[in-house]
Amino acid sequence: MFSGTAPILTNKSELYQELRAQLTSLLKGEPDAIANAANTAALLYHSMPDVNWVGFYFLKGSDLVLGPFQGRPACVRIPLGKGVCGTAGERRVSIVVPDVNAFPGHIACDSASLSELVAPLARRGSLVGVLDLDSPLLGRFDEADRAGCESLAQIYMESLKE
Ligand code: SME
Repeated sequence: MFSGTAPILTNKSELYQELRAQLTSLLKGEPDAIANAANTAALLYHSMPDVNWVGFYFLKGSDLVLGPFQGRPACVRIPLGKGVCGTAGERRVSIVVPDVNAFPGHIACDSASLSELVAPLARRGSLVGVLDLDSPLLGRFDEADRAGCESLAQIYMESLKE
């Protein structure tokens, strides 16, 4: 079980290596999508520096609908193709946004959020939802975060296989 103490790590590579190990252990033996999304959001929110929101949106019809998250209350429904989440979902690619105010159509849920990273969640090529991280710092997320968060999203998706 997650100990609640943030790992003291010097670089992102070490951070994501540690997070992958912790997440794998945290989700082990549990296939429930909501429970595992809740624990994933909590682990990332409390372990990653400079994030003010971490959570899930799940595809329902043509909308991404808010799932488990940590942070301030957020927009509930995002049409596919809209905002950073809907764009990442529609294209099924991760998107790193260094400055949300420069992203056309960005949906502002918390005015404190200045940069964002969204990784899609897919099963056998079909979109299931997205993992969304916000930061109060400009340019908080880079390519190492993109790769790291994609690997964490994959661990979450693998946990759902019974
Ligand atoms: N900023 C997102 C909306 C979700 S919140 O950041 C939690 C977007 O543009 O899709």
